[in-house]
Amino acid sequence: MGEISLCIMTRELCHELFRNWENDPAIYTDMALFKAYQYDEDAVNRYFDTKQNPSRVLLAIMKDGAPIGEIQLKQIDRERRECTLSIHMQNNTFKGCGYGTCAERLAVQYAFETLDLSAVNADTIIKNKRSQHVLEKAGFRFIKEENGFKYYRYER
Ligand SMILES: CC(C)(COP(=O)(O)OP(=O)(O)OC[C@H]1O[C@@H](n2cnc3c(N)ncnc32)[C@H](O)[C@@H]1OP(=O)(O)O)[C@@H](O)C(=O)NCCC(=O)NCCS
Repeated sequence: MGEISLCIMTRELCHELFRNWENDPAIYTDMALFKAYQYDEDAVNRYFDTKQNPSRVLLAIMKDGAPIGEIQLKQIDRERRECTLSIHMQNNTFKGCGYGTCAERLAVQYAFETLDLSAVNADTIIKNKRSQHVLEKAGFRFIKEENGFKYYRYER
């Protein structure tokens, strides 16, 4: 298993990531909304632009010089010193190899050391058992189940 690292997502990396992207059915409560992903240059530019704000850090999960997933630290609250993590690997090739667990640990470290926060939250829809397992494996603590979601938190 090759090493992975995190870096700030650039526009170029974002295009590289989405050129080989696959949507994952695990994140859809309503499967009627699930559609196979189709790369669209303008849509990726819009996506990248909307993520550039002070309450969010968009990170690329890198392996062998290429992006294999994205991880976001969003809802960054400087006063409460917390944020919320979300993660999605590029496609099935990069799932189930340990990269997601490793990326979550690195993102928590980034939140604590680089952003100087003291807690990271995460939530998953109930059916996403893999994500729940991975969050727990990375050290997140289960908090509650509410309105179709399971909530997790990692405190420094
Ligand atoms: C969730 C995700 C980020 C995890 O990353 P990953 O690289 O696939 O995860 P890892 O390989 O590090 O670990 C997978 C673990 O889940 C387990 N697993 C796989 N399918 C599972 C399932 N249906 N139920 C429970 N555990 C499952 C594996 O056995 C493994 O655990 P183990 O090491 O204890 O055996 C990745 O699968 C992904 O991008 N999924 C689609 C998007 C998504 O669900 N994002 C999270 C939204 S909240």
